[in-house]
Amino acid sequence: MAAIRSSVTKAFGILTAGGDCPGLNAAIRGVCRAAHDRYGMRIIGIADGFRGLIDGNVNPLNPADFSGILTRGGTILGASREKPFKDETGDTREIVGEKVAAIKKTYRKLGLDCLVVIGGNGTNTTGYRLAQEGLNVIGLPKTIDNDIVGTDRTFGFHSALAIGTEAIDRLHSTAQSHSRVIVIELMGHKAGWLALYAGVAGGGDVILIPEIPYDIKTIGRHLEHRANSGKTFSIVVVAEGALSVEEEKMEKRDRKKYRIENGPSAAYRIAREIQTETGMETRATVLGYVQRGGIPSASDRVLATSLGTAAADLLAKGDYGRMVALEGNDIVSVNLSVPEGKVKTVPENHYMIDTAIAVGTCIGIDSTKA
Ligand code: F6P
Repeated sequence: MAAIRSSVTKAFGILTAGGDCPGLNAAIRGVCRAAHDRYGMRIIGIADGFRGLIDGNVNPLNPADFSGILTRGGTILGASREKPFKDETGDTREIVGEKVAAIKKTYRKLGLDCLVVIGGNGTNTTGYRLAQEGLNVIGLPKTIDNDIVGTDRTFGFHSALAIGTEAIDRLHSTAQSHSRVIVIELMGHKAGWLALYAGVAGGGDVILIPEIPYDIKTIGRHLEHRANSGKTFSIVVVAEGALSVEEEKMEKRDRKKYRIENGPSAAYRIAREIQTETGMETRATVLGYVQRGGIPSASDRVLATSLGTAAADLLAKGDYGRMVALEGNDIVSVNLSVPEGKVKTVPENHYMIDTAIAVGTCIGIDSTKA
């Protein structure tokens, strides 16, 4: 066993928050094994995201706790969508104050030098706001949505991409057998990275993402052109946040009413619109939480472990207020203010959109105008 290296951080808490994804346990293992084995740090596991920090629901983490978890899906710590800076109805100074005070009390009572938060946009934003309240915080970017500003990729994305691609592959045979149009919905409420990449990987004939509101007539013409060319089936890949040009123009409350009347799921709305527009027999599938389950891909294990050990090095240096990140092929760190309050959406000039168009994919609008 190598000699223990010096470390500014003697004890830290670690939590996972927001939607879970494959790779979370690999990240926990990366942080904890490096922090414990290389730097001799004391580690406190915090249950269910920020809720555990508010309630003081914590337990020491020992090597046996973070051994053998590299390939396990989900998170051994549990997760929640607790937002300490928001109550159920939005910002309420009094309740927010109570929650933040409880967090500070737990942090001090445990004698923590730092809090490691593993999560998406919301989690790292909360981490940044706790840093503004005086806590030492280090963030790790995770989400299947791949929509965190400051990192080129998030772990969870590649695992969900593989799951989505396999599902699309499977839909080809049943769509062909029945000469149908099948619409599959992947996750991605505000950003369409998963639908775009899985659509290209799975050979989707139409790919619809929130960043490009679609025109159902353009989709109809594309599907009819395929049918007239002898293609007896089509696969339409949509992000859960996909919307039509008509929906985009609606006020938020009108859009909500429209979705209550026409079904909350993009896939079922779009399938009905396609069938109405073209008369083609159309079916819908929502892949849902399958995309967030199961063991992490090799790529996600490597990224999660690398980000985890990099976070341990930041802890040792006392380099707080940072989020570890992937930049090209390098692991770097950025100020926690970088992802705060932002979502990384697909730029309209992103090469993957042109790649899709180049292989004949309809992106919901006349691509000569894209
Ligand atoms: O943030 C990842 C994500 O899976 C999104 O793609 C999806 O819209 C959301 O979480 C679902 O949230 P919840 O797990 O709270 O239902």
